Amino acid sequence: MEQRGNFTSKIGVVLATVGSAVGLGNVWRFPTEVGNNGGAAFILIYLACVLFIGVPVMVSEFVIGRSTHANTITAYRRLAPGTWWRVGGIQGVFVSFLIFCYYIVVAGWTLHYTVASFLNQLSADKDYTAYFQNFVRSPWEPVVYAILFILMVHVIIVRGVEHGIEKFSKLMMPLLLLIIGVLMVCSFSMSGFSEGIAFLLNPDFSKVTASVVLSAVGQAFYSLSLAMGCLCTYASYFSSDTNLVKTALSVSLIDTCVAVLCGFIIFPAVFSVPGVEADAGPGLVFITLPHVFNTAFHNVPLIGYLFSLLFYVLLMLAALTSAISLHEPITAYLHEEWHLSRKRAAWIVTSGCMLLGVVCSLSMGVWNDFRIGGLCMFDLFDFVSAKIILPLGGILICSFVGWKLNRQLVYDEVTNRGSLRVRLFGVYIFLVRWVAPLAIAVIFYNELFRK
Ligand code: PHE
Repeated sequence: MEQRGNFTSKIGVVLATVGSAVGLGNVWRFPTEVGNNGGAAFILIYLACVLFIGVPVMVSEFVIGRSTHANTITAYRRLAPGTWWRVGGIQGVFVSFLIFCYYIVVAGWTLHYTVASFLNQLSADKDYTAYFQNFVRSPWEPVVYAILFILMVHVIIVRGVEHGIEKFSKLMMPLLLLIIGVLMVCSFSMSGFSEGIAFLLNPDFSKVTASVVLSAVGQAFYSLSLAMGCLCTYASYFSSDTNLVKTALSVSLIDTCVAVLCGFIIFPAVFSVPGVEADAGPGLVFITLPHVFNTAFHNVPLIGYLFSLLFYVLLMLAALTSAISLHEPITAYLHEEWHLSRKRAAWIVTSGCMLLGVVCSLSMGVWNDFRIGGLCMFDLFDFVSAKIILPLGGILICSFVGWKLNRQLVYDEVTNRGSLRVRLFGVYIFLVRWVAPLAIAVIFYNELFRK
């Protein structure tokens, strides 16, 4: 059996983890949530959620992964042999598989829009709604792009932790930040800049309700890739001197900054075109923005072309580094527990996801009539993973680290066997024991039974 991979540098650790966190959720979900839920007021609540719930849960996942240096399922089994806690590991691997199957469908759309931007197909005045709908409902186009995307992920995964994930993240994350910088400069010069920034930042505390607070917690979980086995698996490749708390804080900070900056790019563009509404979700990036890019730079089409191309490359890279982190927990499990070579393990994951990914993609079009509980396959995967398994997994992780694990073991991990001074260890334990699981339980209840 090959030797277990490891991240070889601190910067590699941070960039790979940031790669997982920064994804589609930062680019389209966060800005719209901020715009619709009270601007800066939402940002403040979100920051509190990240600090008091996101960071403690992330550190807990790191503790589970790094203390065992094993894939998520083995990690739980080693820490609590012969108990039902192993369900925590199984849910992590299972949920990353489910999410991966539909994440790559949307990731495939980003690839298509990158190619279409490059070929200048988005610039001719067209009905962008019809264009998007025809594309996603086509029986072959989105399928081909999803498969291509998954193959890109596969190529990186088979190269291993150091030469695949770490090397790729070290190359791509700086590029992604550079693209954000360039797009920011462009958006400064747009006519809708002040209006866009005002939409995003004007604090409107009257909009803050209990459900806004819950959306902020949900957004924090999604955006930080929590409770999916991804961070736990990545942490199993951390070295024994990686500072877990510092890494969790840096990753959360960078992820939040990227989300806010994406808002600074999107809204000035949207407000530069009169009559355009700031839509939510896929509609914003695949329908509104192509129209905006085309109209706002009417006089200088070359800038419109470059802006659009860079934006979709940004989206695609963000999706790619996140998709890698969804593939890895399952590959690592098959590799280590089933004693398959990494290549073979990766092929099994890739083929399985390809199959289900195709089903999810077709469920937006020709197979849309096939529904379970009124949901097409794409929505079903999303619902089961994000609304049911994920929150339960979050509660499990917190309870496992807060209540079950030996306190000395947790202390040793968090302080690197006493060599780091972590003054707020007691606060951390309090947050994982009480605050985080209760907050997640409330969201879970609210999402499932109150809507
Ligand atoms: N954090 C990613 C985003 O913001 C989503 C994701 C979740 C990626 C889980 C990997 C694992 O889009």
